[in-house]
Amino acid sequence: MTPIPPHPPETAQTLNLTINGRQVSAQAGETILEAARANDIFIPTLCFLEGLSAQGSCRLCMVEIAGSAKLHPACVTRIQEGMEVTTETERLRDYRRNIIELLFSERNHVCAVCVASGHCELQDLASELGVDHISFPCRYPTLAVDASHRRFVLDHNRCILCTRCVRVCAEIEGAHTWDVKNRGIRSLIMADFDAPWGDSETCTGCGKCVHVCPTGALFEKGLAVAEMRKQRPALPTLVANRATEQR
Ligand code: FES
Repeated sequence: MTPIPPHPPETAQTLNLTINGRQVSAQAGETILEAARANDIFIPTLCFLEGLSAQGSCRLCMVEIAGSAKLHPACVTRIQEGMEVTTETERLRDYRRNIIELLFSERNHVCAVCVASGHCELQDLASELGVDHISFPCRYPTLAVDASHRRFVLDHNRCILCTRCVRVCAEIEGAHTWDVKNRGIRSLIMADFDAPWGDSETCTGCGKCVHVCPTGALFEKGLAVAEMRKQRPALPTLVANRATEQR
């Protein structure tokens, strides 16, 4: 997963493009996702979260670009002059539905007994995309729940490996407690060098990872089904405030 490079130096250059046939303009260096959101055009995302580096791993944000046969991830594709982008086609809906179904089939996402039910981005997207059953065989893996932290719990059964927790901890909190171990289907989030979370020497207990997690994989102790409400909009505010202080 190659992180998107930082924005090029600021220029005042404005580029014109179309999204779903609508003329829009955006600044050179912006991504398709940024241009779309600035114009209230919805593109589904899971690994992307405003305030964190974009890594383009979930592939939910794929869009079509005229002249290109392949699909492009909107969160890491920069706009170009004259670009013609389409964000809604039957092909894209099928693609996105397949991704959501694969995520559900990979681990044990049982919404009925999840602390984040009703406040889960995976659940919301499934509903938005009309995913009411899973056509792939479910794996039902046996995965651990790490409740060793005094305030929080990590439930690998609900993790979709978006790595928002890894990035917020490294980029915003500066602790870099989280990382990913193993490869492919065996990948798991781990604290420090694969220590129980409660034994981590780097975790500050700030809870940022819990609040950026899109599902019920990270949650606060003591909460029951549907009680874990995440505070994701706090992140862009925090990042903007820090940028202001540094000036
Ligand atoms: Fe773009 Fe995940 S949001 S690839």
